[in-house]
This record gives sequence, C-alpha cells and structure tokens, in this order.
Amino acid sequence: MKNILESKFLNEYCATAANMYRLGWDERNGGNISYLLTEEEVKEVLDTDKVVRLIPLGFDAKELAGKYFLVSGTGKYFKNFVGDPENNVGVFRISADGQNAELLWGYADGGRFTSELPAHLMSHIARLRVDPTNRVVMHTHPTNLLAMTYMFDLDTVKFTHKLWQMNTECIVVFPDGVEVLPWMLCGTNEIGEATAEKIALSRTVIWSMHGIYCAGHDLDETFGLVETVEKAAQIYMMTEACGGAKNLISDDQLKLLAKRFNLTYRDGVI
Ligand code: 13P
Ligand code: ZN
Repeated sequence: MKNILESKFLNEYCATAANMYRLGWDERNGGNISYLLTEEEVKEVLDTDKVVRLIPLGFDAKELAGKYFLVSGTGKYFKNFVGDPENNVGVFRISADGQNAELLWGYADGGRFTSELPAHLMSHIARLRVDPTNRVVMHTHPTNLLAMTYMFDLDTVKFTHKLWQMNTECIVVFPDGVEVLPWMLCGTNEIGEATAEKIALSRTVIWSMHGIYCAGHDLDETFGLVETVEKAAQIYMMTEACGGAKNLISDDQLKLLAKRFNLTYRDGVI
C-alpha cells in the first residue's frame, strides 16, 4: 500500500491550502476545504476496513452514505497543513445511516472536522444533484471580497453585475454569478442549509461580512474561481478608493463576451 503522505490528492490539497494562506485569505484557523475522494484513491493508501474513530455529524448526510472525504480540522491553520497533515486534516467515510463520520486517517491529536461541516456536506449534496462531477467545496475569507460586503448592496443580482463589470473574464469564469447570503451565525446547520440552497443555483456563495463558499470539479478549478471573484472585488475596492470607476464594461460588451464564449449566463443580470 502506498503511503498517504505521498498521495497526489493529499499533497495537492495541502499545497492549495498553503497558497490560500499566502494570499492572506486564511488568517489563523480561517477557512476550510472538503474534497470528495474516490474509493480507488482511498484504497490505494488506506485500509478502508480500519475505522479509527466514529465522529457524530449532528445532521443527516444519508445522501452521501459510503462516500469518502478529505476535510480540514477545526481550529487548524492552513499554513501548517503541508508540514503536518496528519494532525491538521482527516479522511473519513460517511456511515451507512448518514449519522457519523468514520475516521480512517488524520485528526491525530484527537481533533475533529471543521465546525463548518454542515455547510460543506450539505453543499456537496446540493451540487452533486445538479452536477455529479463536483468534488470540492472551499470556504475562505478573501480580504477584498469581505471588504466589498461592507461597502456594497448585499443583493445577488447587483453583486453579480458589479463583479462581472470589474474584469473582462469574470462572466466567462462564473457565468452562473454569485449568490449573496446575509450575515448568519457560522458553524450551524441553519447556515449550512441556506448555503446549500444557494450553491445549487450558483457555484459561488458569498457569506456577508465573513467569506465565500465555492464548489468545483477539482482543487485547482475551485481555487481559481475564488481567485477570480476576489480579484474582481479587489479591483472594485481599488477603484472605489480612487473616487470610483470612470470607465465600465457595458452590458452590451458583457453580452458580446457571452456570445463569443457561448455562455449560458445567469438570467436577470444584464
Ligand atoms: P474551523 O476552524 O472550524 O474550520 O472554522 C474556521 C472558519 O472559517 C469558520 O467559518
Ligand atoms: Zn469562515
């Protein structure tokens, strides 16, 4: 059996967290990532009959029964994942009754999965229903996007329109736009349910005055989605700080992009 520390999925996961940390998005223990693994990937590096610990989920995840996830630990710092994955992240399977995480590896210091697991697993369920190839849910605290939620209308259509205007390729990268949730108490089933409802409509959900949730097929693509939204927010904040934009991408220009890239884009924005 291969050593899990040499597996592609774990190394890519830790490298992604390190990148996010270096971009300043994940202060202290800020942020969490869940990665749906295939049974083959897990069996290559772990004995799936050896359950180390059962951790109650606190909500019903029956729709994910038997599925394997790599998930960051609660209270853990993204900057430390590369050097010490075993204490900072864990691999578990959802039990047949959907009530427990069957820990196979990790959380070695007695820790447990992120406090945001409801939002992650409920989002996986919601995305898999609309896109069976979805594998990643990523939560982070991008600085400029957070700042923008203090400055701008917390409205899905207005927010999407503004971000699309801030960088020519935005509409290409997130034609489904962004969904904006009001401030809500984090770490609860309620914010999980609200996030899942929104992420079914758009792969990007903004948690006002807190951060972002993005879903995608792989780590790179999901990271790239956060990066693109954050860069648009940065351009918005920079231009606002300079007295506001003098020039803007018009709706007709956005429509030209949509035509050129053959996009199915969100209704009601342009
Ligand atoms: P965890 O340390 O439990 O993952 O929480 C971090 C966070 O970003 C909460 O929203
Ligand atoms: Zn957070």
